[in-house]
Amino acid sequence: MVLAGAYLWIVAAHVIFVIFWMAGLFMLPRYLVYHQEALVAGRGDEAAIWIEREAKIRSIILTPAMIAVWVLGLTLATVGQHWGEGWLHAKLLFVLLLSGYHGWAVGYARRLARGVMRLDARRLRMINEVPALMATVIVVLVFVKPF
Ligand code: HEM
Repeated sequence: MVLAGAYLWIVAAHVIFVIFWMAGLFMLPRYLVYHQEALVAGRGDEAAIWIEREAKIRSIILTPAMIAVWVLGLTLATVGQHWGEGWLHAKLLFVLLLSGYHGWAVGYARRLARGVMRLDARRLRMINEVPALMATVIVVLVFVKPF
């Protein structure tokens, strides 16, 4: 298969887009904290700037990087014939959770843009740590392949 010779190049591209996606997943929830603080303090002008930044990070980094990670990851699983391996099934579960987190953060940004604040500041800050935990588990699964 033609793609088999390109396996290492696909791994490299996969990891590059993983870095972009994770960067976005670390930044957007932090923006949400600052955005919500501006809303609570009644700083409407600043809140409007956060809406713009959140839309940009979503369309320029988060969405394209997530699509690339999925397409390249599924290609690797197929070309490398990893589908029967337990670590990949566990990894997919965590990547699905990470994708769900991505959707939640984008949804929270849309709600903030309408002035809706569902979480208090402490919870919002705690939820910021979720992508780091997920990325840790995923990287261990990929490299250690415990099952
Ligand atoms: C979207 C679904 C994903 C699928 C189907 C997928 C699948 C794969 C596969 C099959 C490999 C090659 C493993 C090997 O050759 O040993 C790989 C490599 C890798 N993946 Fe993913 N992946 C996905 C998402 C992610 C995410 C979200 C992360 C990190 C947060 C990640 C991190 C890595 C890393 C670091 C490698 C390189 C491992 C090596 O050196 O071989 N992947 N991925």
